[in-house]
Amino acid sequence: MLKIQSLSALVFLLPLVRAAQPIYAQCGGTGYSGDTTCVSGAVCTKLNEFYSQCLPGSGAPTTTVSTPTVPSTTPVTTPTVTQPGTTTVPTSTGVPTAVSGNPYTGYEIYLSPYYAKEVDDAAAQISDASLKARALKVKDIPTFVWFDVIAKTGDLGTYLADADRKGKAEGKKYIVQIVVYDLPDRDCAAYASNGEFAIANGGEANYRRYVDQLVAEVRKYPDVRVIAVIEPDSLANMVTNMDVAKCRGAEKAYKEGVVYALQKLSAVGVYSYIDAGHAGWLGWNANLTPAARLYADIYKSAGSSPFIKGLATNVANYNALSASSPDPVTQGNQNTDELKYINAISPVLRQNGWNAQFIVDQGRSGRQNIRNEWGEWCNVRGAGFGMRPTLSTGSSLIDAIVWVKPGGEADGTSNTSAPRYDTHCGVASAHKPAPEAGTWFQEYFVALVQNASPTL
Ligand SMILES: *[C@@H]1O[C@H](CO)[C@@H](O)[C@H](O)[C@H]1NC(C)=O
Repeated sequence: MLKIQSLSALVFLLPLVRAAQPIYAQCGGTGYSGDTTCVSGAVCTKLNEFYSQCLPGSGAPTTTVSTPTVPSTTPVTTPTVTQPGTTTVPTSTGVPTAVSGNPYTGYEIYLSPYYAKEVDDAAAQISDASLKARALKVKDIPTFVWFDVIAKTGDLGTYLADADRKGKAEGKKYIVQIVVYDLPDRDCAAYASNGEFAIANGGEANYRRYVDQLVAEVRKYPDVRVIAVIEPDSLANMVTNMDVAKCRGAEKAYKEGVVYALQKLSAVGVYSYIDAGHAGWLGWNANLTPAARLYADIYKSAGSSPFIKGLATNVANYNALSASSPDPVTQGNQNTDELKYINAISPVLRQNGWNAQFIVDQGRSGRQNIRNEWGEWCNVRGAGFGMRPTLSTGSSLIDAIVWVKPGGEADGTSNTSAPRYDTHCGVASAHKPAPEAGTWFQEYFVALVQNASPTL
């Protein structure tokens, strides 16, 4: 995956001299030798060691959110059920009790102020009034907040405090949706979202510290519910990409890290959905059983907590929930959309001891038939915002349709000389030029708005 980055950023205010870089252009990072100043109204903001970008603003650092993208490699071959429901039972003893039904039921979803700001800034640059109005509607659609670097964990406390305050003021209960995304040697089969921690350099201990910091924030706000997507792409890579040395080397750290995160998050009442790739990745017949076994093993290793709700699919990808006709790229795989994939893997999970539920990312799935190969994941041209988040999913297996990837944040840079360049970001179907993963990609956002289906 790709991912991203973000962070709380250090802002470099550089002396304004020379021709400054335009808004959203690169202004620093490893190997960068161009202008490090930004036009008036923008600040050169360090997003990660590889990339600084001119972001709107006049000084105050902002947090950038990141996002990932999904990967990659596709395998080669081809392959229904239900669950109970209930409601929640908070306890005051410190040990939370999980609801047996849909954890989204009865809650409002908190809107990420970071993403709302990105959308506001993006809309401000759109001159066409009707397009601008449609772009602004995206502000009111909930997305997940990505915690892709340890420096951002404090932001979780800010969001939880805000959600807690709003909930009390409005007499409502809020959910904050987060992505836990900082495993050491992250994105082992791709380049665009390599992370900050290296296994060779204390990465596993650093990761536990990262999880502990998230958990410490959650514990302070028991009235706000947190729903987490756990480590996009990581375990899916363990199913199909063990021919990649970095993935082989990361196996222990990934599995132990995910189990650690699940245990700690469950202990403070966070509902987790482990990332499970998508139909074009683990949905191939040859992958379904190994994938289901792995996920069920992880669930059991983490103590089979009822807070570990299930799996998240299609995170940052483009697949339809239920395609009206199979996209030609799906040929050879009978699971041509996410619903088919979920219906195929669910019984195998049950056979292995896990009655898992699902959430499905449809944030950028509005348009189909836009890829030349199913494995293409990077800034796919022609994509549009998709089905809105809803609990009316049409399947008892699916708790919610969600927007995990904040549309408009790039999947990866198309700069072939950048250290995190991944060739998937240079293919014919990729929208170019593209900035670093997780940073704002204005043209791409505008295209998502224009291509949105349903229309905005
Ligand atoms: C592409 O990346 C290289 C290496 O980081 C950098 O020197 C160059 O300025 C970048 N080009 C653009 C257009 O950002």
